[in-house]
Amino acid sequence: MKIAPIELTVQRAVKRYGGVVALSNGNLDVRSGEVLALLGANGSGKSTLAKIITGVVAPNEGDLRVDGQAVRFSSPHAARKAGISAVYQELSLVPDLTVAENIWLTHEPLRAGTLDRREMQRRTADLLALFSGAMRDSLSPETSIHTLPPDEKQIVEILKALSFGPRLMILDEATASLDSRQVDRLFNLVGQWKRDGMAIVFVSHRMEEIFRLADKATVLRNGESVGTRAIAETTERELVGLMIEGMHEFERRPPSAALASAPVRLKVEHVTGHGLHEVSLELCDGELLGIGGLQGQGQSELLLALFGALRVSGHVTISGEEARFKHPKDAMQKGVALVPGDRASEGLLMIRSILENLQLPSWREYGVPIRMKKAERDGAQVAEELRMVMASLDAPVNSLSGGNAQKVVLGKWLLRSPHLLLLNDPTKGVDVGAKSEFYELLNQLRDRGTAILFYSSDDDELLGLCDRVLVMHDGAVRAELAGDGLNRTALVAASMGAAG
Ligand SMILES: Nc1ncnc2c1ncn2[C@@H]1O[C@H](COP(=O)(O)OP(=O)(O)OP(=O)(O)O)[C@@H](O)[C@H]1O
Ligand SMILES: [Mg+2]
Repeated sequence: MKIAPIELTVQRAVKRYGGVVALSNGNLDVRSGEVLALLGANGSGKSTLAKIITGVVAPNEGDLRVDGQAVRFSSPHAARKAGISAVYQELSLVPDLTVAENIWLTHEPLRAGTLDRREMQRRTADLLALFSGAMRDSLSPETSIHTLPPDEKQIVEILKALSFGPRLMILDEATASLDSRQVDRLFNLVGQWKRDGMAIVFVSHRMEEIFRLADKATVLRNGESVGTRAIAETTERELVGLMIEGMHEFERRPPSAALASAPVRLKVEHVTGHGLHEVSLELCDGELLGIGGLQGQGQSELLLALFGALRVSGHVTISGEEARFKHPKDAMQKGVALVPGDRASEGLLMIRSILENLQLPSWREYGVPIRMKKAERDGAQVAEELRMVMASLDAPVNSLSGGNAQKVVLGKWLLRSPHLLLLNDPTKGVDVGAKSEFYELLNQLRDRGTAILFYSSDDDELLGLCDRVLVMHDGAVRAELAGDGLNRTALVAASMGAAG
């Protein structure tokens, strides 16, 4: 099916949110029959640029042209009318509606002015057929969205965008939750759309996908388009170089001499399950071992499995003793602590007092009836060590800033003096000041001999703090970086699956 031609150019697009500059100089151009990859680190402005094109976000400045004509879309609806459709990074389906209703919402097929349900079912079935064999057979136009797993929701999003019959399609990390068979199917479809004359903007963190699908790539760095390369004339290394050019390398403190002879605290062999594949690692006392990679590659699952919150197969020992915990309380008894990333859902009772939260994992130690004086003394000491800013220990946790609330999560584990500390992206959403105090604390714990396994979605933390970093991909360890090999180029390349 022939698609009407289109040419889109964006020049000098700027988007500010208060003091935050999300995009300082966005440029791209793409035309019919072309796949343009947009790449850049987290927060570099890719989604903002995509949303400016589709009228979701109004730019502060910039020149947007479709077929040479200056345009400014006031809404996604206006962009769709001009033939531009998008799959956004955040899913946007209505849970209580069916697959068909979601796809056709706002452009339902009509007959004599009323909804033509049969036509809607028929068209939906045609769209679903594009992914037949790559989804469960039970998925039908009548299936309710809330019953679908993430991959199928993602596919419905793609079909919804397609249902508008676009000339230009934007796919913002649309493959992140798809399995490899579904990605193959999508790529075949994109190939077909391209031959039909569609233009495609493809946002991805995966080098392999970019090199398979795209004709050219535009790289964003800190809100700025810093270069465009034809895929046939570039390399993974060059693109990674553009992404990180000018970003500083870290002076890491050298691993302490004691580390060489430190005893192995944690040994993990062939851990498999919950998306993990054959994960093996060793961690010594006083060592800070980082875990990196794109988000959602099994990092959290690994930590939860080690903490006894997920059941996996494989062999785990702590100080040489079998340590496959059935429950977090078993792990806690063996001196293991987990600091979660998502404070509100995993870490804290928000309406309880700071003191109660601090005591949560260790209340048994204070006896029955609870030795309140001692509990208060210990709590006050930890609060001081962590430099927590609060009205008093009796104030509820939800009266604290994000960074201070996170300190409570950390503090409640420090009261137990863990031997093995598992950190699950602990500084997400924490302000800069609180972060640096947190880093100081990590270093103190390491000096005291605590073994620390530290997942962070922030490359700077991994590069600046860790002795070694394991990069995970699809539930497996893809690379181990240490010494001079632990640098930004190697970390970004390994995360994106580029040859180092
Ligand atoms: N609504 C908003 N309010 C405030 N800041 C925002 C908003 N949307 C984006 N930002 C900020 O703008 C910057 C660019 O964000 P954007 O989502 O475009 O990045 P991205 O390249 O898509 O990142 P990722 O790879 O993580 O998806 C980030 O620093 C982000 O925190
Ligand atoms: Mg994004």
